[in-house]
Amino acid sequence: MGRGMAADKRRQILIVPDEQALAETAAERLLARIAQTMGRAAVCLTGGSGPKRLYELLALEPYRGRVPWNRVHWFMGDDRLVPQDHVLHNMGMARRSFLDRVPAPPGNVHSIPTEASSPDAAARLYEAELKAFYGSDRPGAGGPLFDLVLMGVGNDGHTASLFPHSTALDENERWVVGVDKAGHEPFVPRVTLTFPTLASTREMLFLVSGHEKRDIMRRVLAAEDLPANRAHSDGDLVWLIDRAAAPEQRDAS
Ligand code: 6PG
Repeated sequence: MGRGMAADKRRQILIVPDEQALAETAAERLLARIAQTMGRAAVCLTGGSGPKRLYELLALEPYRGRVPWNRVHWFMGDDRLVPQDHVLHNMGMARRSFLDRVPAPPGNVHSIPTEASSPDAAARLYEAELKAFYGSDRPGAGGPLFDLVLMGVGNDGHTASLFPHSTALDENERWVVGVDKAGHEPFVPRVTLTFPTLASTREMLFLVSGHEKRDIMRRVLAAEDLPANRAHSDGDLVWLIDRAAAPEQRDAS
């Protein structure tokens, strides 16, 4: 965990032509982050529409053959308290899109236990799992928790299940919290990693595509106080967006 580590670097904004380029760029960044670690790598996934194509690509060649499945561990930044096979379940979506189609060892897929009795109970169980994986419950004990954290942005500026005006935005002690009332549809109880936990990564990568994201991207780029703009990274912070989501036409840089 990186609380107390050096201040964030400035965010980098990359604009690519379309959803396919976004998925391919994200896949290459994911592979590069995995290649930077010798042993196990930890990737925190996200729900939403942004990563869908990326997930599908990872199950297809050439990416499927390039991922060292045995040493990559997959986590989820937030989930909804519905059964794993429910259409609203984020890890369920990731499983259907790629994890069930590739040789990922079952022990490497760390789902939020959404079958727990309450959002808080699920959050405490997942927090314990993260700490066990990390090998310490002391923030800053040794390097970042994740190699890559994927993120999305909702039309209200939420990210993970961190909604505008929620007390969870200011949580600095808990690694994971329950969210009894979602601030955005679908209105089901949620569990979310907190900002300091998400920040404990070598790279945080937002994936944003489609013209319906253009308004919120305008607000993000205007530095409005939105949850997505409060997200920070102890490592790199990259916003990867496609041209349809970009408020103004710019070339990829
Ligand atoms: C969730 C997601 C969430 C998502 C945004 C954007 O569970 O809802 O993790 O944070 O990234 O809501 O989702 P869309 O791209 O579908 O709008």
